[in-house]
Amino acid sequence: MKLSIIVAASENNAIGKNKQMLWNLPEDMRFFKNTTWGLPIIMGRKTFEALGNKPLPGRFNIVVSRRPGYTSGNPEVQHTDSLTKAIELAKKMDAKEVFIGGGGQIYKESILICDTIYMTRVFAFLEGDAFFPEIPTDVFHMTYSKKVTADQKHAYDMDFQTWKKIKSIPEHTG
Ligand SMILES: NC(=O)c1ccc[n+]([C@@H]2O[C@H](COP(=O)([O-])OP(=O)(O)OC[C@H]3O[C@@H](n4cnc5c(N)ncnc54)[C@H](OP(=O)(O)O)[C@@H]3O)[C@@H](O)[C@H]2O)c1
Repeated sequence: MKLSIIVAASENNAIGKNKQMLWNLPEDMRFFKNTTWGLPIIMGRKTFEALGNKPLPGRFNIVVSRRPGYTSGNPEVQHTDSLTKAIELAKKMDAKEVFIGGGGQIYKESILICDTIYMTRVFAFLEGDAFFPEIPTDVFHMTYSKKVTADQKHAYDMDFQTWKKIKSIPEHTG
């Protein structure tokens, strides 16, 4: 099973403010939907609240919270009290790929254990209160990039990037 992060971040790594997204970018929404459709997606309690406490349709939503007795209030949503348990639960679904869907806290906790990062880089410097961690370039390499220019529906230029974890190279034993 592949563990992947999916995120849209500004040039200064802002991903949200006041529990809101920082933009409305239909092309990114389409990419997010197509990439995650039918698969498990793990998110933090605050991101789930930012979605209006409604699950993403067509995906297995898993929400993590440490609050004792936390419940999402929706029978379609699974919840766990740790990220590790959320990943274990997702594994049981036998999916080819499991997504980490944010927000800032969850990305920070999972970046070094994921295999792939789907990053929509939004070309703007924006204020935020939730951020994506700096991608460690000694751990990940960008393997794909598709630039999309701003238009009437998109306020900013974007770059759809895929970052893959660099495979460890066996030491030369001579
Ligand atoms: N641009 C994007 O791609 C994108 C994607 C997703 C979200 N966002 C934005 O990100 C913002 C939310 O991010 P955030 O950093 O504030 O919050 P978050 O990561 O969504 O959620 C944080 C909460 O998750 C729970 N949590 C975190 N680590 C946990 C662990 N190891 N085990 C169990 N529970 C854990 C805790 O909930 P409790 O406090 O209940 O214990 C914590 O308060 C919003 O503005 C949202 O719109 C942007």
